[in-house]
Amino acid sequence: MTDPRLVAAGLVEQVVRPLADAGIATQVFDQGEPEPSVAVAVRAADAAARFGPDCILGLGGGSNMDLAKFAAILVTHGGPPSRYFSFNNVPGPVLPLVCVPTTAGTGSEVSHAAVLTDTDNHIKVSTLSQFLRPALAVVDPALTDGCPRQVTADSGIDALTHAIEAYTATDYRELEAGPHEPVAYEGRHPLGMCLAEKAIALVAEHLVAAVQDGSNQQARDGMALAATTAGLAFSNCAVAVVHALEYPLGAVLHCSHGAGNGLLLPHVMRYNLPARIESFATIARLLGEDVAGLSPQQAAERSIAAVERISQAIGIPQRIRELGGTREQLPVFAEKAFAIKRLMHTNPRRPTQADLLAILETAF
Ligand SMILES: NC(=O)c1ccc[n+]([C@@H]2O[C@H](COP(=O)([O-])OP(=O)(O)OC[C@H]3O[C@@H](n4cnc5c(N)ncnc54)[C@H](O)[C@@H]3O)[C@@H](O)[C@H]2O)c1
Ligand SMILES: [Fe+2]
Repeated sequence: MTDPRLVAAGLVEQVVRPLADAGIATQVFDQGEPEPSVAVAVRAADAAARFGPDCILGLGGGSNMDLAKFAAILVTHGGPPSRYFSFNNVPGPVLPLVCVPTTAGTGSEVSHAAVLTDTDNHIKVSTLSQFLRPALAVVDPALTDGCPRQVTADSGIDALTHAIEAYTATDYRELEAGPHEPVAYEGRHPLGMCLAEKAIALVAEHLVAAVQDGSNQQARDGMALAATTAGLAFSNCAVAVVHALEYPLGAVLHCSHGAGNGLLLPHVMRYNLPARIESFATIARLLGEDVAGLSPQQAAERSIAAVERISQAIGIPQRIRELGGTREQLPVFAEKAFAIKRLMHTNPRRPTQADLLAILETAF
């Protein structure tokens, strides 16, 4: 499962040729698209079903990897797609998945999520299931060497968002769920926080460099590791209000997932700060801020400044109006985000719909 830009970039050939040399028959579906729609997932699954594969390989950014995941669900369990949206609705294992990222960002190569755009309802829809964790992730930073500047920036700040949301999420001891109730996310826990800390430090060291000079291999290597560790962190701990707000905003304003998250991240951090002073102070330090002698509150505030500095340095849009959004759209975004209950529960402060609107207004 891939797309025309990756065919043109020669990356598909790099993957298909060694498989052919090894006597493995492949068929390429190359009609993937950024932020893929449900319709393209259905077409991908139809093509896969005609071929009858033993496994499905997603080559690309999160968009193509998620396409591969969703096609694997449909080939294995049939349609309609909406049956599987949200959490825990995939009834059993799917065709084995191999994910090969060509961006350093989403962590989909290790996550239990597949995100599609529901064009009928103007929102991104997540399908979450432990059956969606790929059987194999091949993370080769060299595949990101030709990743365009903008995609490097957007996907890179998505990885930072994953790490920060995981690190500051509702604690696993406080997540509201019965003892045997399946949960989409576990809440933050010590192992996930180790992974998130590593990812935050790697992004601080490498993201700006990777965007400024795509041929900087040390930066590409660092960001590939950051994206996968952040993927492990968020897919076990959580993402929260940043992602909830991005789902309607990105679907309506047609910005990339990373650009939307990057825009919203500092504003959501400001809202969450009172509940996570120490965590945000640690994040400030991990992002390279000198917090010596500062009070915990002052140190925590530095984390927001640090994220804004990185975001501006790599050209992430800073305002919703820059994306063509209008003030009248904000209440609808707040309402749709508020309806994604699993992401309200994982947020360290439990927002009201009015809180979400207030966050959007500060980001407007
Ligand atoms: N499943 C998950 O856990 C998860 C997590 C976060 C985001 N997502 C989803 O992932 C998608 C975003 O993925 P993304 O940020 O990786 O970008 P992307 O997959 O949408 O790719 C963006 C564009 O960059 C091109 N591109 C990618 N790699 C390239 C390379 N090496 N060389 C040349 N061109 C290249 C692609 O062809 C595409 O046109 C969104 O739909 C988002 O919702 C999924
Ligand atoms: Fe994300």
